Amino acid sequence: MGKLVIEGPIKLSGRVKVSGAKNAVLPIMAASILCDEKVVLENVPDLLDVRTMIQILESAGSKVEFKGSRLEIYPVEKANTSVPYELVRKMRASFNVLGPLAVKFKEAFVPLPGGCSIGVRPVDYHLYGLEKLGFSVKVEHGVVEARMNEKPSQVIVTFPFPSVGATEHIMTTAALMAGTYTVIQNAAMEPEIEDLANFLNKCGARISGAGTKTIEVFGVERLKGCVHSVIPDRIEAGTYIIAVAATQGNAVVEGLEPKHLFSLFEILNLSGVELKIDQTSVEVKMTTRPKPVKVHVAPYPGFPTDLQPQIMTFLTVAEGTSTIIETVFKSRFLHVDELRRMGAKIEVTDGTAIVHGVEYLSGTQVSATDLRAAAALVIAGLMAKGTTIISDVDQIFRGYENLIEKFSSLSAKLEYYE
Ligand code: UD1
Repeated sequence: MGKLVIEGPIKLSGRVKVSGAKNAVLPIMAASILCDEKVVLENVPDLLDVRTMIQILESAGSKVEFKGSRLEIYPVEKANTSVPYELVRKMRASFNVLGPLAVKFKEAFVPLPGGCSIGVRPVDYHLYGLEKLGFSVKVEHGVVEARMNEKPSQVIVTFPFPSVGATEHIMTTAALMAGTYTVIQNAAMEPEIEDLANFLNKCGARISGAGTKTIEVFGVERLKGCVHSVIPDRIEAGTYIIAVAATQGNAVVEGLEPKHLFSLFEILNLSGVELKIDQTSVEVKMTTRPKPVKVHVAPYPGFPTDLQPQIMTFLTVAEGTSTIIETVFKSRFLHVDELRRMGAKIEVTDGTAIVHGVEYLSGTQVSATDLRAAAALVIAGLMAKGTTIISDVDQIFRGYENLIEKFSSLSAKLEYYE
């Protein structure tokens, strides 16, 4: 595992451009299994997770070409409906090929994705949804088998919690169920779900309501191909915005969709950050320590859990005590110990972190526990006095395209060592 060495403190300045959204392109790639024609995706980030999904599609029998930010996916000719564990264990989003494979080829076998360092991540809502759609689902030896039975004419799937992955999985699978009308209630409303529905509709699906709590799907007989440009990555954008604010810098983050980031802008405004929001960019300026704030992490349009470690890092030097309530992954606090090693004062009880602001962070050796924790530690390293060495840092490349180049273009001093 590689190491990232960061020299701080530095005030970030300059401009940085956001890439296409990881969490939009992955479910779209999984959904491409349904298509009978070539799918062309544009604005695709070159990330480890995208590379893993390419391998999964290839293992299922698709031919995939990835050049620049353009991904061409050719339809599966001879399907292999068993996905290898080695690929699924790398990335939870790979589980979302189960429904598409099963609806297109009548049966599929996908290993359970297993645990994850941000907490227990079950797939019970996915399995419940597939069963409601009429599949028989069983788990044997750690592998989920889904087989298609007679299709129901009407289905209502009501999720106990608005799960992003389960909403995407069920919406995608239902798209190719001709004769079945599916209603998804308490659906997750994340922009990536809307992007997936837009992609499927361009291919001939009949989906409405994506981006709201209720999604309706009229299944169709076949899906063709299309050309689709992936939405900007709001989490990558948010990470750079927070980094600029946390280093008391002044920089422009461009190529983003401001309406996807309102919950972040609200918190940053309250904490004293100056934001000049344009159609596709935001200028961020901060000249003081942040004011303390209360952050309620919740499903979209709430504050995103994927920015929780980064905003916590920003608040470690606030002039007072902030509160962060995490309601999506209640034990997503593994970064807290690492931030404490850098001098942060944080207490965690029962899904809530109390962050007592200190004057500054100090560079030291820390280790990245997951993708977004790694991003938070990069921000901490840029804020801290002295040298920060982040080990196990490679997971950051699962979700941040050209991270070293992008931060360097903002005048950060960071180097990667194998
Ligand atoms: C997606 C994102 C991830 C983000 C998360 C929450 C992708 C590829 N990943 O993950 O970056 O952090 O949304 O915004 O888009 N749950 C169950 N049973 C299930 C499914 C979920 O109990 O079958 C629970 C989870 O444990 C969690 C909550 O529901 O507490 C939300 O999880 P979910 O929205 O499903 O996250 P993912 O789709 O895995």
